[in-house]
Amino acid sequence: MRVLVTGSAGFIGYHLSRRLLADGHEVLGYDGMTPYYDVSLKRYRNAILAQNPRYRFVEAMLEDRETLDRTVSQFQPRIVVHLAAQAGVRYSIEAPQTYISSNVVGTANLIDILKVHRPDHFLFASTSSVYGGNEKMPFEEAERTDFPVSLYAATKKAGEALTHSFAHLNDIPTTCFRFFTVYGTAGRPDMALYKFVDLIERGEPIEVYGNGEMERDATSVDDLVEAIVKLFDAVPVRGRPVPVEGVADSLSPVAPWRVVNIAGGQPVRLMTFIQAIEAALGRSAEKIMLPMQQGDVVATFADPSLLKALTGFVPEKGIEETVGAFVKWYRAYKSGE
Ligand SMILES: NC(=O)c1ccc[n+]([C@@H]2O[C@H](COP(=O)([O-])OP(=O)(O)OC[C@H]3O[C@@H](n4cnc5c(N)ncnc54)[C@H](O)[C@@H]3O)[C@@H](O)[C@H]2O)c1
Repeated sequence: MRVLVTGSAGFIGYHLSRRLLADGHEVLGYDGMTPYYDVSLKRYRNAILAQNPRYRFVEAMLEDRETLDRTVSQFQPRIVVHLAAQAGVRYSIEAPQTYISSNVVGTANLIDILKVHRPDHFLFASTSSVYGGNEKMPFEEAERTDFPVSLYAATKKAGEALTHSFAHLNDIPTTCFRFFTVYGTAGRPDMALYKFVDLIERGEPIEVYGNGEMERDATSVDDLVEAIVKLFDAVPVRGRPVPVEGVADSLSPVAPWRVVNIAGGQPVRLMTFIQAIEAALGRSAEKIMLPMQQGDVVATFADPSLLKALTGFVPEKGIEETVGAFVKWYRAYKSGE
């Protein structure tokens, strides 16, 4: 199968592309190698993917409509997984324009091109941040998500709305994922796992927001990729909600479109996460305890019932295993292996 993965040099795109190549698919990666974090990590991931002859890569921005159009017309993907985005909640306070450009303009460009080339299934990465100010836990897909508390969340919510209109007008099956906190090897340097490991290894103190009480539904990237691949086959069909008692499907009443949480529904306290890192590194961290930051939310965890009903799968990998694998990867990466 020919699969287009936008954001293939990113953390999740890299893992997904690796998995698809291992499964025998042809993958076209599209990534603008944006400088949000160290581009050499993106090049490192992309070089690993490029070892496989079934991987092709186009380095360009989603905003470069001509290149995007040419890429899609030449490759004719059957499945498109749209992961490229300006990610990160905190940075959206500093650099709002990059979020509008990548997440809104970029997504609008892609779907406008895809309406001509008509993939069998279009899949788009949204985020748990769209649940914003919702207080009822766990988060269910069918709840209202009208109260974003960061511009990042607002642009992802816009992406959900844009892809809904795309699915409706063009009758192209579309699945939006809501990822929670994803972690694993070759992860992002702006996220807690990388930051903490890096600082502790260098003997520097770590800043612990929300006094370590914040809870996140941490999903191992291996489990996340497994869920994405399983969702390829859960193609939304208008008027055909998932026939499982007690599960509220988010399927649109007017389009082959649904949104699904990908997470295990087992939140981990930040302090527990730090202890797992300390155990994997074999040293303890000097901690600077700080209050929560603007735009952060105390707890996020998913109701994974819809994912389970659609795929039979729920992420469950333990933190010790994933944190341990990360530490091993980090040490090898830093030593240039
Ligand atoms: N990692 C998480 O915990 C998490 C949580 C929720 C949602 N998400 C979403 O999942 C997706 C993948 O996240 P990730 O963690 O792999 O992030 P990432 O930053 O590692 O990957 C995104 C990739 O997209 C590329 N990109 C950004 N803007 C682009 C543009 N305009 N044109 C072309 N390429 C562009 C970047 O160069 C990068 O390689 C994103 O859409 C993100 O918002 C991630």
